[in-house]
Amino acid sequence: MDSDMYADELIEQYEHPHNKGAIENPDGEMHEHNPLCGDDITIYFILQGDAIKDVKFSGTGCVISMSTASKLTDFVKGKTMGEIGGMGAKNVIDLIGIDPGPARLKCATLSLRALKEAIFLHEHKAVDAETKKL
Ligand code: FES
Repeated sequence: MDSDMYADELIEQYEHPHNKGAIENPDGEMHEHNPLCGDDITIYFILQGDAIKDVKFSGTGCVISMSTASKLTDFVKGKTMGEIGGMGAKNVIDLIGIDPGPARLKCATLSLRALKEAIFLHEHKAVDAETKKL
């Protein structure tokens, strides 16, 4: 796909997001926001063993933050918490297919940051330095 097609797909995901909503009594939940713009996201997940059985997100944000959350929540279903723990900004860029550039990278990584923080909280661990940088 060329970058225009990736951009079209992101707008489609923004207008028709996957996995939008809340989960009652989740195994993990985390709210995150981008202080630069005020956009916010909450991620919820249910586990089966150590893998993500279901995951949803709620909140408001720009096209990049919301469409990335849509794609990320599709991608992580069935993945283990360990696999998600190893994900970083590069994985998010690969997932959305375009590099948003330094000014918008935080938009793209907002949902991954929230998800990884929710996993750290679930595991009663401190958030690692890599996740804090997202
Ligand atoms: Fe707020 Fe993108 S402009 S997350």
